[in-house]
This record gives sequence, structure tokens and C-alpha cells, in this order.
Amino acid sequence: MMSDLKTARYKRIINQIEPLLEPVHDVLARMATINAVLYHKMQDFYWVGFYLLQKEMLIVGPYQGPLACLMLEKYKGVCWTSIQQKKTVVVNDVNEFPGHIACDPRSKSEIAVPFSGKDGNIIGVLDIDSRKKSCFDNTDAFFLEKIASLICK
Ligand code: SME
Repeated sequence: MMSDLKTARYKRIINQIEPLLEPVHDVLARMATINAVLYHKMQDFYWVGFYLLQKEMLIVGPYQGPLACLMLEKYKGVCWTSIQQKKTVVVNDVNEFPGHIACDPRSKSEIAVPFSGKDGNIIGVLDIDSRKKSCFDNTDAFFLEKIASLICK
């Protein structure tokens, strides 16, 4: 998707999500709502969901899309990398990423966006897969970080 088009779409999505989340501060309700909006508005998003840190494990949270791994092997793959590096990881071709965990072989590119709780500690990661290679770029990273930051506001 062209960057301008993508930017405009993310702006519309954020304008939709913010008032939806406003009355409810429950973290699961907010994650579920974000998933539904992203999954249905972004046509190339094949899997949208959350992995949450629980006792130093990454366990799947709310998601939309095909069945995913319930738990991610420690310190392996894209999600764990984003948590360890404390920053968004964009993967143009998952087959080129050492240790990538393939929950669904149809996924070709991926973005993982870690997010924090109110105390500033990372509590999980927003993970999105696409069936297209190189689906995600800096524009996605910028807006998805904004969206993920809404979860614990
Ligand atoms: N590919 C991820 C695992 C989660 S799925 O993509 C839903 C990873 O390598 O961490």
C-alpha cells in the first residue's frame, strides 16, 4: 500500500478506535477491539493479535485470524526479539528471520510491537502477520506503536 494511503487509513482507524476504547479500561476488552478494527480494516493483515508476558512466558491473548501458537518458545522468534530489544521489529520475509516461529505457513511478513503497562514495563506484544512479503514498513511501525500505547492508557 502507498504510504499516503496507509497514513490516511491509520488516521481513520485511530479516530475510530479512540472513542471506542474511551469508556472501558479493561485491557482485554481494549485488545479485542483493536484486533477487530485492524483485522477488518487492513486488507493485507492475515493475523492480528497479542502475546502477553506471563511468568516470563509469552502466551497468546485475544486475536483474529487463523489458529495460532498458544505459547512461544522462550527467546525465539519475532515476538520475543521485539520484547528483548524493547522495540518494534519489522520482518519483510519471515523465512529469512533466524528462529522465526511459523504458527501458520501462509504468513510471509510480520511486525511485532511491544507495549507497556502503566508502570512502563513491557507486558506484551501486538503481532501482525501478512500473506504478502514486505507488507510492513516504518509507517506501520509508527501508527501501530500509537495504537498499542492506547491499551493501558
Ligand atoms: N511468528 C511469531 C509467532 C506468532 S505468530 O506469527 C501468530 C514469532 O516468530 O514470534
